[in-house]
Amino acid sequence: MSEVCVVVTGASGYIGSHIVANLLSKGKKVRATVRDSGDKERVEHLKNMKITGDGSLEIVEMDLFDEDSVNRAINGATDVIHTAAVVIIRSRNAQEKIVDPSVIGTKNIISAIEKCGTVERFVHTSSTAAIRPENWNDGDVLTTETFAKDATLENNPYGLAKYSAEMVVRDWHRQKGGAKKPRMVTIHPCMVFGPPLSPRHLRGSLSIIMMLVNRELPLLLPMQISIVDVRDVAEAHVRALTMGENGGRYLTVAGEMMWSDVSRILKKEYPKRKWPFRQLPYYFALIVSAFHPRVSISWARRHLKNKLYWDASPAEKDLGMKWKSIDETLIDTIPNIINNNWDK
Ligand SMILES: NC(=O)c1ccc[n+]([C@@H]2O[C@H](COP(=O)([O-])OP(=O)(O)OC[C@H]3O[C@@H](n4cnc5c(N)ncnc54)[C@H](OP(=O)(O)O)[C@@H]3O)[C@@H](O)[C@H]2O)c1
Repeated sequence: MSEVCVVVTGASGYIGSHIVANLLSKGKKVRATVRDSGDKERVEHLKNMKITGDGSLEIVEMDLFDEDSVNRAINGATDVIHTAAVVIIRSRNAQEKIVDPSVIGTKNIISAIEKCGTVERFVHTSSTAAIRPENWNDGDVLTTETFAKDATLENNPYGLAKYSAEMVVRDWHRQKGGAKKPRMVTIHPCMVFGPPLSPRHLRGSLSIIMMLVNRELPLLLPMQISIVDVRDVAEAHVRALTMGENGGRYLTVAGEMMWSDVSRILKKEYPKRKWPFRQLPYYFALIVSAFHPRVSISWARRHLKNKLYWDASPAEKDLGMKWKSIDETLIDTIPNIINNNWDK
């Protein structure tokens, strides 16, 4: 039996960094893939992580589009946690910028797993975006029975990227036979908040918290969001290496909250800072969305005012997950931002 070596792709990223920290705290041997090992904002926080027991950290360069680098990164690994993807929801060139990194990247990871033949466990980071169909009704509760089959390049390129990449993994796993078939699980986080470990982590899901921190939005959208803590998402990935159903699909969602309540919690905990707290009336919000570069009117019609819920109970049952409260997650998101002067 080969010595356990866990490859974490996208280790410079927000979720990837927390997965690396989690594994090192458990004494695991980790190979962390980054695109540029010379960039301090991508690697410094990884190098400073606490390592327990026999744990070790190796940082290797890998680009999802460079097959040789992917093969080198995966070679000899027993475990792979594949988080690397581009996390943006709109682009003028959505195929190249959003879909290809997920889909071609995941194909290259699977091909490298096939080539090396040592991988026993594979966990793939998917998303609620791979589950949520375009049409849903106010009050719906979605489970892992649903697939975002109707996501298109025009309407929902990020959903298309996450759904298609998951299908690459599932088709491969379904077709693969033999004794060497690795165990496989997909993890589906909703909006992830919690402590950033590098200023680069403020660009993805935390960019909307930064809009509140920097008061870029004077008024809040009348919208509910589902939230999970990045530390819980990391824990779920690590547990899924050895726990849960083989082929399982696990939602990681702690709960839901209106934007105005997110702001209220932050205002209560950090009263010296100014936080936006007034909610934009629904019809004004629709008009604002029509002109906003990051959202569209069709998105706004679907998401504003309507409430969507997720059933994360399988992760509680099979992975033993207990979610941090949303209040704790929000409160813990802020100190690293303020203490490192990552706000503007
Ligand atoms: N954050 C959320 O709310 C959320 C929710 C659901 C699912 N997810 C999923 O979770 C995963 C991680 O997201 P995140 O929030 O941690 O985003 P992130 O901070 O942007 O991390 C993404 C990582 O992917 C790497 N990457 C991007 N393109 C690459 C390429 N061509 N080759 C190699 N690496 C590449 C990035 O490397 P660089 O540092 O070099 O850019 C980065 O390390 C993604 O699969 C995302 O879809 C995130």
